Amino acid sequence: MSSPVLKVSDMKKAYGAIQAVGGVSFEVMPGEIFGVIGPNGSGKTTLFNSMLGQIKPDSGSIEFKGQDVTKAGPLELSRLGVGRTFQTLQVFGKMSVRDNLIVAAQEHQGSKLSRMFAPSDSGLGDKADALIDQFRIRHVADLKAGTLSYGQQKLVDIAMAFMREPDLVLLDEPCAGVNPSLVGGISSLLKQLNETGWGGKKSSFVVIEHNMDFVMSLCHRIMVMVEGKVLAIGTPAEIRGNKAVLDAYLGA
Ligand SMILES: Nc1ncnc2c1ncn2[C@@H]1O[C@H](COP(=O)(O)OP(=O)(O)O)[C@@H](O)[C@H]1O
Ligand SMILES: [Mg+2]
Repeated sequence: MSSPVLKVSDMKKAYGAIQAVGGVSFEVMPGEIFGVIGPNGSGKTTLFNSMLGQIKPDSGSIEFKGQDVTKAGPLELSRLGVGRTFQTLQVFGKMSVRDNLIVAAQEHQGSKLSRMFAPSDSGLGDKADALIDQFRIRHVADLKAGTLSYGQQKLVDIAMAFMREPDLVLLDEPCAGVNPSLVGGISSLLKQLNETGWGGKKSSFVVIEHNMDFVMSLCHRIMVMVEGKVLAIGTPAEIRGNKAVLDAYLGA
């Protein structure tokens, strides 16, 4: 048995009287695509932001590749190999697609604002080109990212997360706002990245997404959250057949 790439243990986070996350534990294995679903307000985003070092949990621990990162900040996590996509697009509209990828790989990775002050670096061009081919966006690589459709910009946004060859990629609603005709493309791309790897290594994914077909077809295992707690963790088939999940969520 290999050891988990991510291990979250009994994590809790309250906002005043609201227990946003009330004792959540799960593990993500190397190469796994792990989905997180649950109704609005169930604590998914709070959990996600804790794993990214953006908020500090009240208690519990987070281990990444066997190292305790409970107190690590976003930059340290990024350096250790945690990549992410944001729910809102983080591309620079006036910069070419290719330059967006290059800037995303630089040391000051993080939000759009922090990347704006990153120094230029041309050594990353080959890496950007390899991803451009893998994401099949060669035909738009030299265009200003702002001229692309929302769905295409989303692809660029996802590609940016892979520039630093992360061990773990956290995807925040990768299908949000994307034309339904492009959702299948994003799914097969993520499947391909997961199966063949990228830059000689394979990443694990944690995906928050409301699109149930997307989650069910993409993820190896799914965690269902309700009111800050884990209702169930299992394969798509197990989740589909889980009575508590059906009652609380899928049956809605
Ligand atoms: N910054 C915050 N301040 C106060 N309450 C918050 C904050 N963030 C989230 N909450 C509350 O915590 C609960 C979980 O929210 P959230 O993690 O955003 O859930 P989800 O992403 O599943 O919709 C909700 O009741 C929400 O209103
Ligand atoms: Mg949310």
